[in-house]
Amino acid sequence: MKTAEIFARLQDIQKNALAGFSHFRVAALVETEDGQMFSGFNIESSSYGLTICAERVALFKALSEGSRKFKRIYLLCDGEQACSPCGACRQVIMDYAPDVEIIMFDRSGKSDRMSIRDLLPRAFGPEHLTKPDHSC
Ligand code: THU
Repeated sequence: MKTAEIFARLQDIQKNALAGFSHFRVAALVETEDGQMFSGFNIESSSYGLTICAERVALFKALSEGSRKFKRIYLLCDGEQACSPCGACRQVIMDYAPDVEIIMFDRSGKSDRMSIRDLLPRAFGPEHLTKPDHSC
């Protein structure tokens, strides 16, 4: 898909964001290694902490449909500047899509890109978890 098409798609997705509490709408597209695209927007709750970001909505949709290998995540949010994934999303992206590049659009359509490894240096991961000891 061409960059202009992706940007147009993100603009459409963003319109549907359920962001009635913050009024900050975010759209994400996750591209799988085999070229499928999964969309997401932020879904907010009146119990604010239950809100889920656009990136995780898109990634969880892709995972729950069976995708496991990812190439890119595209992002568009409200405001002047392009935004990058929040810390919680960085962790989840690192857990499930450690090889992705994140492409962050500003509202004029200009984009910046960074790998998740650069966005989350020295990440926590499964290698840090010790095996559970079930002996009591
Ligand atoms: N948000 C996202 O969807 N993705 C991000 O990377 C940053 C923040 C959402 C969460 C909340 O609905 C709103 O933006 C304001 O924080």
